[in-house]
Amino acid sequence: MSPNKIIVIGSANTDMVVKATKLPLPGETVLGGTFYMNAGGKGANQAVAAARLGGNVSLVTKVGNDIFGKQTVEGLRKDGIKTDYVFTDNKSPSGTALIILNEEGENCIVVAPGANANLLPSDIEKVKQVSRAKIILMQLEIPMETIAFVVKNAKKTHQKVIINPAPAQKLDDELLKGLFLITPNETEAALLTGITVIDEETASQASKIFLDKGVENVIITLGKEGAYFENNNQHFKIPAPLVKVIDTTAAGDTFSGAIAVALTEKQDRSTIEWEQVVKFAIVAASKSVTRLGAQVSIPYKKEIVLY
Ligand code: RIB
Repeated sequence: MSPNKIIVIGSANTDMVVKATKLPLPGETVLGGTFYMNAGGKGANQAVAAARLGGNVSLVTKVGNDIFGKQTVEGLRKDGIKTDYVFTDNKSPSGTALIILNEEGENCIVVAPGANANLLPSDIEKVKQVSRAKIILMQLEIPMETIAFVVKNAKKTHQKVIINPAPAQKLDDELLKGLFLITPNETEAALLTGITVIDEETASQASKIFLDKGVENVIITLGKEGAYFENNNQHFKIPAPLVKVIDTTAAGDTFSGAIAVALTEKQDRSTIEWEQVVKFAIVAASKSVTRLGAQVSIPYKKEIVLY
């Protein structure tokens, strides 16, 4: 296996999307939407992003023994992702997500994890490649015990673990200590650090909390404002290009997948050109928001034009 391999460990969902004029309030019915069904799930989305942007990617996930699970595997293969470690759960259905979009491209998402909730450390033990991957990329749509298990083992083998802490959940200090990089958005950063991130200064305050806990590098995504990077040697903010937003679903996934790819091209921790890495990811994520859907909106490498 190539030493530049990326392993994504995370969820795969089928997204049921309704694009409406507005997001409903509790108890309200909004009439007049359009329905779409798309491949999604934060893990699968990030694997697709990494593959389309030039990475050598395997996805470790769990699907149900149903049509959604089969479609998920087919889709991943079309993107050149290795699916040897897509496990099948005979007891639970495949993960699904209900997504409502408004006219501004903002969304509300509810996830029924299904089989994703049964991706356990015992499954990870079967995945020989995990210890050989250059980058391990995870999100928080699978059990926390699985994530903690991977981080603990990766520490022993000195692998780079990236966590995109979405959907937002508390992470314990032991786990944070093992991270090469964390990529929260403002909301996730606020939940994890207690700092309300509204600008560069507050992004820096939040980043320092992660760094103090032993995370090596922090990137806080700031939506249309771009992204903020900080480690113990440098910090900077990179603005995002101005684009017409159609749908923000999977923008964060595209960002984290792109970061993983950019990092596989840089071998040595001391020579990583972080500004280039972050810029590449911002451009990829900005492209994804101009299109509807999760995986279907994720760009290919040839579409990335750095500014
Ligand atoms: O990040 C977007 C994803 O979140 C969607 O594809 C949905 O499946 C949920 O996992």
